[in-house]
Amino acid sequence: MNIQKIAFIGGGNMARSLTGGLIQASILPKSIAIGEPNKLRREELYREFSVVTSDNNASVAQDADIIILAVKPQHAASTVSDLSETLSARKPLVISILAGINIASINSWGGGNLAIVRAMPNTPALIRAGITTLFANDKVTVIQRSQAESIMKTIGKTVWVDDENLIDTVTSISGSGPAYFFYLIEAMEQAAMDGGLEPELARMLTLETALGAARLAVDTNEPPTKLRKQVTSPGGTTEAAIAVLDKYQTSDTIKAAISAAKKRAQELASANEVDE
Ligand SMILES: NC(=O)c1ccc[n+]([C@@H]2O[C@H](COP(=O)([O-])OP(=O)(O)OC[C@H]3O[C@@H](n4cnc5c(N)ncnc54)[C@H](OP(=O)(O)O)[C@@H]3O)[C@@H](O)[C@H]2O)c1
Repeated sequence: MNIQKIAFIGGGNMARSLTGGLIQASILPKSIAIGEPNKLRREELYREFSVVTSDNNASVAQDADIIILAVKPQHAASTVSDLSETLSARKPLVISILAGINIASINSWGGGNLAIVRAMPNTPALIRAGITTLFANDKVTVIQRSQAESIMKTIGKTVWVDDENLIDTVTSISGSGPAYFFYLIEAMEQAAMDGGLEPELARMLTLETALGAARLAVDTNEPPTKLRKQVTSPGGTTEAAIAVLDKYQTSDTIKAAISAAKKRAQELASANEVDE
């Protein structure tokens, strides 16, 4: 990976996953600096990765070629504004993983004319099984695009979109998506226990089924409808189950839930919006 210096602003869960991924991808610990106010977290990051840590964001950002914004969204405005001098002087690539914060807002807080990539990862990134969707503004060079992609690839797969508005849909699918699957897993586990299985077995059967179904869909590349029909023999058990899901319009319910997530993402983005 052709990267000189990376600074993280915020040293929480996502920064930790990315740092682990980068080090596994042979980025030297001394090339990574993390600005994090919490002393215990700084000590943990240093113990685990031997990276540079500081409670002073400006000092970690001052010689960075790439700055990754990884604070909570509510801290974004003040954190980026505090860095505006460094950002304006050095013009690094800014990668923002902040949910619900538009590029225009970051650009405005940071002093303008910035190369910014907006990235939307998801929680499986914590075990490097995430998927991150990326969008770049027109200040981002081809090299910077490839750097952003290489960084996010250390925690899973990456895809690009060419319209920032699509990030709200992405948030409602892959961002919130792990929770939808956990919801289904919770219900299946409970049904298994209601049917007399021990909790451990109920969990194992449910999780292995979820994993196996996802792997089957990925490996065969067959449409899910076809795979579902393959398990559904006429007059059989699966058909009986699907009939109940259809009766309660489960597909429409899922679509309505995803639509609510997207609407909320749009609301959060416009609440944080700044006019350029
Ligand atoms: N987790 C996900 O799956 C996921 C997915 C997509 C996007 N994101 C986005 O990723 C970002 C980080 O998420 P996370 O789960 O890593 O959150 P997190 O664990 O809470 O990490 C944020 C870190 O930033 C620190 N911080 C607060 N103010 C700061 C400041 N002024 N300067 C530097 N650091 C500061 C926090 O310290 P304190 O705890 O002491 O405040 C905390 O350690 C969020 O914006 C979230 O929207 C996360």
